[in-house]
Amino acid sequence: MTGPSIAQIFNSASADFDLVTPLVWGPAGEALVARAGMSLGDKVLDICSGTGASALAAARAVGPDGHVTAVDFATDLVDRARANADAAGLRNIDFRVDDVTTLPGRLSPEYDVLTCGFGVFFLPNMDDSVRQLLTLLRPGGRLAVAVWHDDALRDFTNAYFAEVARVKGDPPPPGPRAPSDGPPHPITRIDTQEKIVGWLESLGAVDGSASVLELRVPRTDEFSWSMVLGSGLRGALSGMDAETVAAVRAGFLRRLAGDGITEVDCDTLIAVARTP
Ligand SMILES: C[S@@+](CC[C@H](N)C(=O)[O-])C[C@H]1O[C@@H](n2cnc3c(N)ncnc32)[C@H](O)[C@@H]1O
Repeated sequence: MTGPSIAQIFNSASADFDLVTPLVWGPAGEALVARAGMSLGDKVLDICSGTGASALAAARAVGPDGHVTAVDFATDLVDRARANADAAGLRNIDFRVDDVTTLPGRLSPEYDVLTCGFGVFFLPNMDDSVRQLLTLLRPGGRLAVAVWHDDALRDFTNAYFAEVARVKGDPPPPGPRAPSDGPPHPITRIDTQEKIVGWLESLGAVDGSASVLELRVPRTDEFSWSMVLGSGLRGALSGMDAETVAAVRAGFLRRLAGDGITEVDCDTLIAVARTP
C-alpha cells in the first residue's frame, strides 16, 4: 500500500497552512525575497509556492513592471495563494497548478530570479530537479532558497514522531527527521551554510552565500499543533481516525511541555547564488 502523495498531504494541510504563515512561512518568505536582491521590473519564478509567502513578497518587490509566476501542485494551496494575492491587491502575479519538476523544457529560460521556500527537499532527485530548474534562469540570474537550519525543529519533530510511533505501536524512530528507516532525509544534506553553498555550487551555480534567519516561536499548544497540521508533518497522520489523531495530539503536546521546550526553533537558512 502506498501513502498519500506530497500534493495530497499539502492539499489536506490547506485549512491549517496559513495559521503558520504569520509566524513562520511569512517572515521566512519576506527574508528570502529581501536576500534574493530583486529589482523593480524583474521576472521571478517562485516554485513550491504554497499559499504565496515568498511569491507575494516577490510581487511587491518587483513592482507593477515586474512579474511573478508562482507554481505549486497542491490545488487547494494555490487557490488560497490566489485569494491572498487578490486580498493584497497584487496583479503582477500568475498562479499555476503544476509539478515544478516538469517545468524545464516547458517554460522559457527568461527568469531573473528563481525563489523556493521550504520546497527543494520535497523534490524527487533533488539535485537533478534543481539543476534543471536553474536552466530557466537567464545567464547571471539569481537563485534564492530557504530551508530549515541545522537543529531547527529537531526537538519538535523528535517529540512528534516518537508520539506517532507510540500511538501506532511502532518501535521508536531512529533519529531526527527520520520517521522511518531509510537513507538520510535530503534536508540534512543542505542544513548548514557551508553545506548549502557547496550544494548550490555543485549544481553549477556561482557566487553562493548563505545566512541564518533566527526564528523562534513561543511554544503554545495552538502553534505546535498548527505547525503539524499545516506542514508536511501531517503526512504521518494519514489513515488515522479522529480518535487516534487526538491521542497523537495530546501525547505530543504533553511531550513538548515535559521536555521543557519553551520555544520552537524554526531557524531558517537562506542561500543565494547566481547562474554563470
Ligand atoms: C512547506 S511548503 C512551503 C510553501 C511556501 N514556499 C512557503 O514557504 O510558505 C512546500 C510546498 O511545496 C510544494 N511542492 C512540493 N513538491 C512539489 C512539486 N514537485 N511541484 C510543485 N509543488 C511542490 C507543496 O505542495 C507545498 O505547497
